[in-house]
Amino acid sequence: MHSHSRRRFLANTAIASALAGLGMMAGSGPLSAAPARPGPLLTRLVPSSGEQLPVIGAGTSGSYDVDIGSPEYVRLQEVVKIFFEGGGRLIDTSPNYGRSDTVVGALLADGGWRDKAFIATKIAADSREAAEAQWAESLRRLRTDRVELLQVHNLRDWQRQLAYARELRQQGKTKYVGVTHYTDAGLPELEKILRGEKLDFIQIHYSVNSPRAADTVLPLAQDRGVAVIVNRAFDDGKLFAKVKDAPLPPWAGEAGVTSWAQMFLKFAISHPAVTVVIPATGKPERQRDQLKAGTGPLLDAAQQQELVRRFSA
Ligand SMILES: NC(=O)c1ccc[n+]([C@@H]2O[C@H](COP(=O)([O-])OP(=O)(O)OC[C@H]3O[C@@H](n4cnc5c(N)ncnc54)[C@H](OP(=O)(O)O)[C@@H]3O)[C@@H](O)[C@H]2O)c1
Repeated sequence: MHSHSRRRFLANTAIASALAGLGMMAGSGPLSAAPARPGPLLTRLVPSSGEQLPVIGAGTSGSYDVDIGSPEYVRLQEVVKIFFEGGGRLIDTSPNYGRSDTVVGALLADGGWRDKAFIATKIAADSREAAEAQWAESLRRLRTDRVELLQVHNLRDWQRQLAYARELRQQGKTKYVGVTHYTDAGLPELEKILRGEKLDFIQIHYSVNSPRAADTVLPLAQDRGVAVIVNRAFDDGKLFAKVKDAPLPPWAGEAGVTSWAQMFLKFAISHPAVTVVIPATGKPERQRDQLKAGTGPLLDAAQQQELVRRFSA
């Protein structure tokens, strides 16, 4: 990180930590434990509605791209059971993720989870005609007549597709609209869109080895009252190869962190602009572990900074 970026990061995280200490996250509203059965997962407010969402969601790219009825599918049935029983709600998919959206539809139907689920899917198309056909197919695959969030995938044809998503919101087919990207290269465009458009959500990459979103897009989203979904918090799993068997920092216990997966996820949710982080896994024990990151204290500024120093090139 450049020294300017690092200073900005520190300033942002210092504010975050101060607010976290007070149990308040500016822009994202108060932090609270989700009620009743769902357990102790922290929740954040969606600024445009005031709805509370659990901070740990689920990604599906790759990990859910399996054959229905295969041993991997049976394992995913266990994964989603752990996810929903542990208080999770948001599950992110896309027509671009191979069989994932079909698998999500089947898993929600098999387990009876549709009412608990907050389905976030995407439009990835270059014309209105293609988007309409894709949306009809998405509903069929997801086995639903509406979703909670419709996002323009990777900013593709975003002006036209955002307008279409808003029409669908107007018709009650989606509760929220948003746009996504997955690398730092998308940040300048996202910044422009955040300044010019009224969005419910953005989805971006933010991780210990790629914290640049904290310089601009995260504080801007907070100012503009836009919820933030964080993707690739494990850098597609590459971060695990970097830590291998390395011990956790000595202060991990103070934050209630007992694994590197929890550490990477807790880093993401410790930024006050972040609403939900969506790690992907097809493994029940990893799903259980990921949910633990959504409980207990957040990381303070010094802890976040130490992780950035250690993992950022
Ligand atoms: N443009 C976009 O809109 C966009 C772009 C990228 C991603 N996304 C969304 O964000 C989600 C998350 O991003 P991602 O899936 O690319 O990357 P990620 O969540 O950073 O990493 C997922 C990978 O990490 C592995 N993993 C998980 N826990 C692990 C552990 N404890 N130890 C070792 N490996 C572990 C998973 O494998 P296993 O399944 O084997 O556990 C999977 O291969 C996606 O699934 C997708 O929903 C959106």
